[in-house]
Amino acid sequence: MREIEEKAARAYRERFGEDPELVASAPGRINLIGEHTDYNGGFVLPCAVGRRVAVATGRGGEELYSTNFDETRRMGREKDSSWADYPRGVVWAFGEVGRGVGDFRATFAGDVPLGSGLSSSAAIEAATALALAAHFGLGMDRKELAVLCQRAENEFVGVQSGIMDQYASLLCEAGAALLIDCRSLEAESVPLDLEGADLTLLVCDTRVERGLADTGYNDRRAACERAAETLGVEQLRDAGENDLGHLSGEELKRARHIVTENARVLEATDALRAGDFGELGHLMYASHASMRDDFEISTRELDAFVELAEAAGALGARLTGAGFGGSAIALVRTGETDVLTRQVSRVFAERGFAEPLFYEFVPAAGAEVAR
Ligand code: GLA
Repeated sequence: MREIEEKAARAYRERFGEDPELVASAPGRINLIGEHTDYNGGFVLPCAVGRRVAVATGRGGEELYSTNFDETRRMGREKDSSWADYPRGVVWAFGEVGRGVGDFRATFAGDVPLGSGLSSSAAIEAATALALAAHFGLGMDRKELAVLCQRAENEFVGVQSGIMDQYASLLCEAGAALLIDCRSLEAESVPLDLEGADLTLLVCDTRVERGLADTGYNDRRAACERAAETLGVEQLRDAGENDLGHLSGEELKRARHIVTENARVLEATDALRAGDFGELGHLMYASHASMRDDFEISTRELDAFVELAEAAGALGARLTGAGFGGSAIALVRTGETDVLTRQVSRVFAERGFAEPLFYEFVPAAGAEVAR
């Protein structure tokens, strides 16, 4: 078992005086490219990170305990705007698709940084869903579980996110990115051998917290829907660059990001398959510029990181996730990461930004039942 899984199991034994029946865990994610394209029916290319949320479960009771918050909550059906709403939402969503989950109690432990844009919420949903599906023999595959987790997030927790994070957490494979067609929900692993290319993906958490419930996310979503309506297409996935002439103002800017970003995801996938990391890097920079200027979801901190990465010779860099704070990534030659992190820390301090945190990213495995 991984350390974080041991931690959840240990908490279970300490609280309930017996071994858990099952332990599962699920990772957070970064997105290589393809931002805000998921709810427009488009393409995304995320990877699982080596940080996870683990859950230990056993039958009976209705206690949920989090080692991160050191607190107990009841299962119940009522929301209380805490971490427990995620497992509650998953149980609710199982009910909605006619899969009854019996009584259970659970302990959680996680090391996905909260509020950093690395999808700790999808990780807790995915870990809970996989654990309960195994525990109660619910006979659902991973894609079905991902859709179920998204439903929990949209309809129970009340955040209008797309499918990317839950899909990534449940379907990513170690050593690979996952190309998802968010309309057909087909997904395909694309090998990502950074080590072989002597490259490192550096994650910079700017420590500017964002909640998805923030209006920015929902505003962007609504603007995309309006643009699709103006163009007479079902979703912006169906629009091309030639259509953009029919739009103006905010709708034009938002749609231009989505249309060009979808194309970049497919080009990035080709580049990865060809081992062309230089091209992947160019696409990452172009993606960031599009999010900064057209989708307008970047921050001073994220822009500063990307500029410093470029000046230091990184192959590519961009904000990752929803934006409005959270994390950025840079594709850097291994051996040059220290110079970049020192430089970023210095400039952030000079500008009075919060002290950033850095992680070296390894493409990790998706959700797993540990025992
Ligand atoms: C958040 C959402 C995802 C996706 C990204 C932006 O992570 O949960 O569904 O929309 O933002 O790409």
